[in-house]
Amino acid sequence: MCGIVGYLGARNPKDVILGGLKKLEYRGYDSAGVAILHDGHTKRVRALGKLKALEDKLAHEPFNGHTGIGHTRWATHGVPSEINAHPHQVNGVSIVHNGIIENFQDIRRDLIQSGSTIESQTDSELIAHLISDQVQQTQDLRTAVERVLGKLRGAYAVLATWEQSPDEIVAFKEGPPLVIGHGRDENFVASDVQALIAYTQKFIYLEDQEVAVIKKDSIQIFSETGKPVDRDFVELNWDAEMVEKQGFPYFMLKEIFEQPRTLAVSLELLTNKERQEIITPTEYDDKLKTIFAGATDLRIVACGTSFYAATYGKYLFERLARLPTEVDIASEFRYREPVFNKKTVVMVISQSGETADTLAALRLVRQNGLEVISICNVKNSTIARESSLSIPMNCGPEIGVASTKAFTATLLNLLLFASQVAKVRETLSRAAETELMAALMALPAQVDLVLTHDKYFENAARGFHQFKGFLFMGRGVSYPIALEGALKLKELAYLHAEGYAAGEMKHGPLALIDERMAVVMIAPSDELYEKTVSNLEEARARGAKVIALGTGENTRLRDVSDAYLAIPASHWALNPILATIPIQLLAYHMAHSFGYDVDQPRNLAKSVTVE
Ligand code: M6R
Repeated sequence: MCGIVGYLGARNPKDVILGGLKKLEYRGYDSAGVAILHDGHTKRVRALGKLKALEDKLAHEPFNGHTGIGHTRWATHGVPSEINAHPHQVNGVSIVHNGIIENFQDIRRDLIQSGSTIESQTDSELIAHLISDQVQQTQDLRTAVERVLGKLRGAYAVLATWEQSPDEIVAFKEGPPLVIGHGRDENFVASDVQALIAYTQKFIYLEDQEVAVIKKDSIQIFSETGKPVDRDFVELNWDAEMVEKQGFPYFMLKEIFEQPRTLAVSLELLTNKERQEIITPTEYDDKLKTIFAGATDLRIVACGTSFYAATYGKYLFERLARLPTEVDIASEFRYREPVFNKKTVVMVISQSGETADTLAALRLVRQNGLEVISICNVKNSTIARESSLSIPMNCGPEIGVASTKAFTATLLNLLLFASQVAKVRETLSRAAETELMAALMALPAQVDLVLTHDKYFENAARGFHQFKGFLFMGRGVSYPIALEGALKLKELAYLHAEGYAAGEMKHGPLALIDERMAVVMIAPSDELYEKTVSNLEEARARGAKVIALGTGENTRLRDVSDAYLAIPASHWALNPILATIPIQLLAYHMAHSFGYDVDQPRNLAKSVTVE
């Protein structure tokens, strides 16, 4: 979490940094600041609150200079306040930091004992002290940083500047991402390419323990042992428009409405319409066959929304590929001393490709000699790079903190991947594949159709404003959608919501139901429909107000619910994607009508790079 940006070049650094931080505000938004070097001095401006507060302050500040760094914060150590905001400065050294320094108490104690005055409550300020102490001795910023690296434990991506060498930024990292953008006579560095694609499409991803010395006309990278590293640029070809709202009031709403197109992209790449076939790209056809040839079971590990997508994956891999599958929350998995069998295949899922717990789970699995498949949205992310095989979500940058299009893209890619595996394991008949293909081809248009009912979902949301508690329920592949629906409502509308497998209600949660409790029952027409309707009746009989989500013009569901949300008829495996759209819009409209910031819910950040 936290977003950092650095710039060296002829443009006004204030504008580049502020523009970049705006694109990174999804990573943290409780305070922000910039430090710009000019004429042997550093001008620092910090503000509590969202970036707008900093922008307002900077509007009256004339800035010169060609080198600067900036930060938008998601607080870990120390409350959100101006004094805890970055950049931190000590004797001409300025730093911005994303991450957590785990041994900060030891460092703090040592610094205080040796006479340093610590201003803030943050772990980050200590990095500035350490570098400042060293640079007084070495008179060289890179050497000072190299000396400090061994003293830091934890996760960090740091940019450092020093007044006495105003033409360089030294960047280093362990854990959270840092990407260097290359321009003509100008260079950039940031937590995420989104901050930089308006200026360049050429990037270098810094690896852990590397140190980069960035000047306006050069980028030098040094390994942990101080040896120069040669690294090729990655060309992205992203369109800067992709990270704009394009007329929507929120990124989240834009991302919800992008789903027909994002789903169509994956279908275009992974199916053959003429042959009515799900295809495996040649780049990984052999690899997939090797990995799954003797596989005994699959483990899917992820966090948050990606974990709920993984839960859907469990149903698919078992039903389509007949492969025993377990799912794990990454933060539990990594500390549980999981037992690995040599024939176990592990998959991790992460939109950002940087989630600290998911990355640690991946590394743990790799240390145990197993290959790891990942599904990521950010193509050159750390998780994508460190996986044996990485499947792209192909849904373009997702900026709203609440995941929407990445969730449905993951569901679809899981379905296509499970089908590819099923074909290798010969568990998907031609007839079953043709039936699935017909439904897949109709999917983008069906999602589009559901989106046209947005006004109707908005009205339904209005009818449920007064409820403080929501239970989302579903059975089979609808169960993960119940989990996801509850999470969307929690994170966006700050309402208490839980997702349950509808069959579990009698084992406890039914006691929660009374007339103040709303139930959202996901009941598409599939083989569990009758049982799901019985669960709905049980909730209703105990006074619950019900939103039912079903297939087509279902008068039975309409009769037994207070609001009915319809999705078009589809294949059992695709109902979850269609059902996701109304629940996303329900949460969006609830949150919007309460006046909440839908893109940046309180206390959250998009990319969770600390555990
Ligand atoms: O980038 P990841 O998919 O690894 O992120 C995992 C979770 O942090 C993320 O899905 C989170 O739960 C979202 N806020 C959900 O909307």
